[in-house]
Amino acid sequence: MSKTATLEFDGKKYEFPITVGTEDEIGIDIKKLRGEAGLITLDPGFKNTGSCESAITFLDGEKGILRYRGYAIEDLAEKADFLEVVYLLIFGELPNKEQLEKFTNDIKEQSHVDEEMKKILDGFPKSAHPMGVLSSLTSALIAFNPSSVDVSSEEDMYKAIVKILGKFPVLAAWTLRKKNSLPLNYGDEDLGYVENLHKMMFEKPNKTYSVDKAVINALDKLLILHADHEQNCSTSTVRMVGSSHAGLFASLSAGISALWGPLHGGANQAVIEMLENIKEDGGDTKKFMEKAKDKEDPFRLMGFGHRVYKNFDPRAKIIKKSADEVLGQLGIEDPVLDIAKGLEKQALEDDYFVKRKLYPNVDFYSGIIYRALGIPVDMFTVMFALGRLPGWIAQWREMRLKKEPIGRPRQIYTGENHREFKPLGNR
Ligand code: SDX
Repeated sequence: MSKTATLEFDGKKYEFPITVGTEDEIGIDIKKLRGEAGLITLDPGFKNTGSCESAITFLDGEKGILRYRGYAIEDLAEKADFLEVVYLLIFGELPNKEQLEKFTNDIKEQSHVDEEMKKILDGFPKSAHPMGVLSSLTSALIAFNPSSVDVSSEEDMYKAIVKILGKFPVLAAWTLRKKNSLPLNYGDEDLGYVENLHKMMFEKPNKTYSVDKAVINALDKLLILHADHEQNCSTSTVRMVGSSHAGLFASLSAGISALWGPLHGGANQAVIEMLENIKEDGGDTKKFMEKAKDKEDPFRLMGFGHRVYKNFDPRAKIIKKSADEVLGQLGIEDPVLDIAKGLEKQALEDDYFVKRKLYPNVDFYSGIIYRALGIPVDMFTVMFALGRLPGWIAQWREMRLKKEPIGRPRQIYTGENHREFKPLGNR
């Protein structure tokens, strides 16, 4: 394979080096393009543009492969627990017993939030969307943890990382409790990370907390499946904000806002709302399929399609299987699960979807499980953020440790050429 790519423009030839990844992905290194040829590239949505080299997550969209640090998502979802995957993503190796114990204890040490944070939460109306609350609270944490901002040493980064891993579940749980008018509590540090989160979310005053292990296992698996996904919209946002050295918490707050959008993490909420609409409308999935195909109709089949996967999203396969298991274990019949399966079957046989390689993605079935676990629909994307937190952290840390430059894309200007100023009286 050639070591360079040649660009010919205006009678001149320019050579650019080729970068080959460990999974044989090939990139043209155009760092010198503008300097040598006076040209830039133009790629709205960055569909053909790599922003970085990363050793964290590998996706093969054609084959439907997803690996965290080389481990297959199927293995991790089946055999690991969430905190092991958090450690793997951030530090690159599965932890041994001692490492996991220390990591767990360091996080527990940080699993409290300054009391004044409750006043900030108190300022929100109960109707506020949890993602907006969570993004604000994450940013507000900076005021109480100023040492988490200027972190250039690995040790300072580690301190900021365990701080947010300890405090974020509290903020997420308090966001839900505020909506349910429940006292803002803490969990029980003798419980595992995920069970403690569940307890903080759902414990009721004057009632003994108990939970079906199937619920915790399902939640743990869902968080693993959402943990990282290379350079998606919200992760690219975290890297972009982090590249200005604004600090980890500010970068995460921006990532939460990016994830909120219905084209991204907000899709899990939009899927359930869509399925409920179809059910209310009499369950005629064909009618909604036609709407999704009609260019004049803004309706899209939420939970379908993906920028990278042009085959099944491996996470969707695992979640679909888990939905059947969890609903069975909990003895829940959810009519929208059958509607979802019917839609999937129709789409996989429909030329419009087949031609565009539109398959169910991670968001198509996840909401059905969240609902079975008693999580309100406007908290679904908060659950996505709880899962994605370690991925955002890992990608931010990799970017900072590699001392990557501040992100600042170019543009092609298409506005007015120079013109003289006209005083008000002459306009
Ligand atoms: C996530 O990037 C990641 O890794 C994200 C994520 C992660 O883990 O971080 O995987 C999480 O965000 C999953 C995606 C969740 N979003 C949705 O489910 C929303 C519905 N999906 C679409 O909006 C869309 O598929 C995107 C946003 C996911 C991808 O959009 P692209 O890559 O920009 O593709 P496109 O919009 O250019 O679509 C290509 C064609 C178009 O038709 P044509 O112009 O070629 O005729 O496919 C059509 C689109 O109209 N199309 C759909 C469709 N998705 C794409 N038509 C109907 N329904 C859909 N869902």
